[in-house]
Amino acid sequence: MATKERILVTGGTGYIGSHTVVELQKAGYDVVIIDNLSNSEPTVVDGIEKITGIRPIFVEGDCTDLETLRRLFLKLPGIKGIINFAASKAVGESVKNPILYYRNNLVTLLNLLDCMPEFGVKGIVFSSSCTVYGEPDMNPIDETAPIKPATSPYGNTKQISEEIIRDFIRAGAPIKSILLRYFNPIGAHESALIGELPIGVPQNLVPYMTQAAAGIRGELTVFGTDYNTPDGSCIRDYIDVTDLARAHVIAMERLLSGEDHDSVEVFNLGTGRGLSVLELISAFERATGVHVPHTIGKRREGDIEQIWADPKKANEVLGWKAETPIEETMRHAWAWQQSRIKR
Ligand code: NAD
Ligand code: UFG
Repeated sequence: MATKERILVTGGTGYIGSHTVVELQKAGYDVVIIDNLSNSEPTVVDGIEKITGIRPIFVEGDCTDLETLRRLFLKLPGIKGIINFAASKAVGESVKNPILYYRNNLVTLLNLLDCMPEFGVKGIVFSSSCTVYGEPDMNPIDETAPIKPATSPYGNTKQISEEIIRDFIRAGAPIKSILLRYFNPIGAHESALIGELPIGVPQNLVPYMTQAAAGIRGELTVFGTDYNTPDGSCIRDYIDVTDLARAHVIAMERLLSGEDHDSVEVFNLGTGRGLSVLELISAFERATGVHVPHTIGKRREGDIEQIWADPKKANEVLGWKAETPIEETMRHAWAWQQSRIKR
């Protein structure tokens, strides 16, 4: 396949970044990764190479350092697009250490935006989150829903980042941007060569569930079954990470196509279907035949009761749709967990 434009993927050895690099390479893009390895391992690059047969250029560096980015753009000319995954993402940690979160997430974005006009970069795809909606007044939720006050410094960095990008473009910056609001990304690549690498005890549902099923952790605690939902547990829109990754390729194609559309666009990326915690546990057990030891516990502070996406805009405008059945996603998550044990 003829090589397309050169794309910089910040945070490209991370969970969503690595899956996106795979899809970008499969689509013919020439990928450069920058990652400071604060939440990923350099061996992820080997996994990407094994899957695609192409080794992406990997720069170990910190995006909060403007000079590092400048050097990268000078050394690796011709970057036309950026996908910015690099960020700190643990909600609880952000409450305890807000400065770290504001500095890392916002300075990274500011530095990237600073470099874009100077080095002729046309478009940036930004990783936002459904956390910007807070507790929705109604579900499914679409992009016109109001942004609610953030409940954590992490969530606030996503809101502020969206505003920074809008203001920069409003001020005449010669760039375009697509803001992608992810719902709950889960699963791993079908090859089980890349996946999520939680450090320590996983805070998120699926990594904890697979580790509990593997006997690495104790029982999974279901955080509350007294919510106003059909089975009492919280509802989320779980989106397969490869489906999510594909959306980034389409977004980048749109940014670089030269087509006439708004300079800043925002899309929800979800399946359009809400699943409860208990339903997800059942889906895992059905798909893998493996029991998830679990117990019912108290609510987790700050949790949203229920949220799922209206993904119609992404379906219609981007021509993107979440396709992977939940059972398949669960099998991939389990295969990834097992491959980690064998290593
Ligand atoms: P991740 O932690 O696996 O990946 C982020 C990567 O960025 C890591 O490899 C980390 O080492 C790197 N990084 C962090 N700060 C950096 C810096 N200053 N310079 C260079 N590299 C840096 O996280 P992920 O789940 O892949 O999330 C990717 C993006 O998507 C993040 O912006 C996150 O906030 C956003 N997001 C994630 C979720 C989710 O549930 N996973 C949901 C909504 C939005
Ligand atoms: N849950 C449990 N037990 C656990 C872990 C989670 O019952 O051990 C429940 C939670 O209460 C919640 C659901 O599983 O109802 C999903 O929880 P996650 O922690 O996996 O995900 P969240 O929806 O809380 O948050 C995630 C990311 C945030 C991001 C948000 C929206 O962790 O960074 O999605 O994008 F902001």
